Amino acid sequence: ESMKPILAVARHFTPEVNARIDRDFEPRWNPNEQPWTQDELLQAADGADAVLVSPVNKLDARFFSLLSNSVKVIATFSVGYDHIDLAAAHARGIPVSHTPGVLTDATADVGMLLLLGASRRAYEAQQRLRSGLWASSKGDLLGWSLQGKVLGIYGMGRIGQALAHRARAFGMQVHYNNRSRLSPDEEQGAVFHEDAASLLRVSQFLSLNAPASQDTRHFLRTENIDLLPAGAIVINTARGALVNDDDLITALKSGRIAAAGLDVFEGEPKLNPGYLDLPNAFLLPHIGSATVETRTAMGMLALDNIEAVLKGRPAPTLLRN
Ligand code: DGY
Repeated sequence: ESMKPILAVARHFTPEVNARIDRDFEPRWNPNEQPWTQDELLQAADGADAVLVSPVNKLDARFFSLLSNSVKVIATFSVGYDHIDLAAAHARGIPVSHTPGVLTDATADVGMLLLLGASRRAYEAQQRLRSGLWASSKGDLLGWSLQGKVLGIYGMGRIGQALAHRARAFGMQVHYNNRSRLSPDEEQGAVFHEDAASLLRVSQFLSLNAPASQDTRHFLRTENIDLLPAGAIVINTARGALVNDDDLITALKSGRIAAAGLDVFEGEPKLNPGYLDLPNAFLLPHIGSATVETRTAMGMLALDNIEAVLKGRPAPTLLRN
């Protein structure tokens, strides 16, 4: 008889993390390429001590109403937790952990990749090169410089601040909107806008860095797009739900927005097909945290939380209501 706790594991991780799971737990791995459906996850959790999920798993009120009494802790392999009904978890007395901090730099790096990829028309350039065209005598593929431009950051948390740090090194002037003003030490000279409309009016480049919530849902819609300077460039490494896709696609078609860099999509892994035909959309499949080092750190932090709760010790990164 095994003394190891039973862990329902919704996906695979880096080899180091997988090895720790196999060593310290009695794992119930998702054997499929496809994410578990909610019912499959509930079945795997039946009799388990802990559950390890990611944002593709929707843990809503139904999930918590049907979840086995054996489950003592849930960890999500993500900093974002809009896929989890936290109030429903806490009503059942189940603590939930996430992975803040360890993915900040990797995600801010992808923010720069998107700023550069969108502004320098990297997708069109790749397409041109691979179709044997190189340059055209009718004109080069000209992008837009970052140097001297205003970058507006909507949501100045850990990742927003790390992007600001990088953008300053590229000569950008950082402005931001956030629920509350940061300390001067955190601001590093960034200009605070108390309301989002005021930020949008100055943002030649705009980065979305707020969590998905009722308040931020479809923040980037026509009404707000119209406040941006003409030919603004927009990037999103946060959540697709912050963008009204039809409105952004319309603005990219007309040139009202010159280019967009997107790593996240509402309804992903499906995305609005309107994006696929747009040469000025630089698109990535949610790779913000996808480095070996970061994904290992995320997995280790998730397991640290699970083990702490199961052993009755203080857990490092539990979510509060
Ligand atoms: C997060 O951490 O929330 C990412 O979106 C998943 O890697």
